Amino acid sequence: MPTEETAKSAATGDGSVAATGEDSLTVTDNRTGRRYELPIESETIKAMDLRQIKVHEDDFGMMAYDPAYTNTASCTSAITYIDGDAGVLQHRGIPIERLCEKSTYLEVAYLLVFGELPTRPQLEDWTYDITHHTFVHEDIKKFLTGFRYDAHPMGMLLATTGALSTFYPDAKKLEDPVERYLATIRLIAKIPTLAAFSYRHNSGLPYAYPDNDLSYSENFLSMMFKMTETKYEPDPRVARALDVLFILHADHEQNCSTSAVRSVGSSGADPYSAVAAGIAALYGPLHGGANEAVLKMLRHIEKVENVPDFLESVKRKEEKLMGFGHRVYKNHDPRAQVIKDHAGDVFEATEYNPLIEIATELERHALEEEYFVSRKLFPNVDFYSGVIYEALKIPPDMFTAIFAIPRTSGWISQWLEMTAEPGGKIARPRQIYTGAIDAEYEPIADRSGGNTISGPPATRPGA
Ligand code: SDX
Repeated sequence: MPTEETAKSAATGDGSVAATGEDSLTVTDNRTGRRYELPIESETIKAMDLRQIKVHEDDFGMMAYDPAYTNTASCTSAITYIDGDAGVLQHRGIPIERLCEKSTYLEVAYLLVFGELPTRPQLEDWTYDITHHTFVHEDIKKFLTGFRYDAHPMGMLLATTGALSTFYPDAKKLEDPVERYLATIRLIAKIPTLAAFSYRHNSGLPYAYPDNDLSYSENFLSMMFKMTETKYEPDPRVARALDVLFILHADHEQNCSTSAVRSVGSSGADPYSAVAAGIAALYGPLHGGANEAVLKMLRHIEKVENVPDFLESVKRKEEKLMGFGHRVYKNHDPRAQVIKDHAGDVFEATEYNPLIEIATELERHALEEEYFVSRKLFPNVDFYSGVIYEALKIPPDMFTAIFAIPRTSGWISQWLEMTAEPGGKIARPRQIYTGAIDAEYEPIADRSGGNTISGPPATRPGA
């Protein structure tokens, strides 16, 4: 426990003090002159150690203010390691580039969930279990029928994934290892089915049921595109490119959607509800929705000659360069390079996509111009994935649903890790209160109604 003793170090005369060599911060509260020793562990201090810093004994104590958690570690985890400056991404210590070259998505999902690569029998059992849980309860189709023809697939995926919690109520037995395993394989197995069914609903097509003879990625393509043929035969180049895209999107440490899963899971909610929260967070255009926004941006630019004008509008902050920038990666997103390397295979197997020209020209400018270089705006995972999905004739509003498919293994592995941790507490951040205190209850006749920050719109909808 940190103490208030003064630091043991001697003054050096230039205002700093000689290092004591201890793993601690010495903090002086200039309001009181008191000094505190805060232990440093893993390059962090415990936020709770700040609470002893007070002016008066009955003060609440010091907190850290960090909206969007830009510099706050919310948990410990051994699943994914990212070095944003070096552009490094590793799962359980294995570099993402090696996994994309040598592994498959289901093997990577096993690695994320269980912490090591499977033996051959383990992989066979894992693949068998997932393959034989791809069906969803027939009643789920009734949910989908209730959606409008143009309902966004992410809205349908969010709803049907949450609904899975009602079909598997035993998933609430969070301590039961069998229920934890069942929820893990059911989520990884069924979310592609729910995503494909959403696409078929939008297209007015009958559902194409899972085909157990196909691999995970091939099966998803079959559920999406199978028509009257008795057996859908995916192009192996497309199936492999999709499997690599699934590997690249599987997990990404404490991103917005994963922290949503952990936060909801911390209340003891079942894993289906927690993953539904992740889907809701991923839906946003600043997160998983960026790949869909990339295509809208490329279509808006329309042709290569318009790229310079568009980039000027970005500099004027009238537009955002969707698919560029990242909170953690500050030089390059390693996943974007792998996707770009595989893009060629996809374009060989599909019609050439003219939007590629615009995408390539955007990237060239962004990597050269000071405005973008100084803000570390380089292509992220969403930039090229959007163009590949477009080449696969997947509609843009399906892109984020396809991102959610592999991210499910990341979400569930993070949920398993969190719920296995002894002494886990419910997530409940604090706040800096800026509102009124002990206000009067004003009689309605005396109210002016003019003090709200942003009251109801002047012309209320439907009024
Ligand atoms: C994903 O967290 C994860 O790991 C996410 C993810 C995962 O696998 O889970 O990697 C997946 O979400 C990838 C990111 C997809 N989103 C986009 O492509 C949307 C466009 N990108 C941005 O909105 C933005 O770059 C973020 C949200 C990704 C990161 O934003 P930050 O770190 O909060 O950076 P910022 O908003 O503070 O921007 C810093 C500066 C600002 O300029 P100034 O105010 O200093 O002048 O850079 C500018 C921003 O205006 N900026 C952009 C920009 N991104 C940042 N300007 C134009 N276009 C952009 N894309």
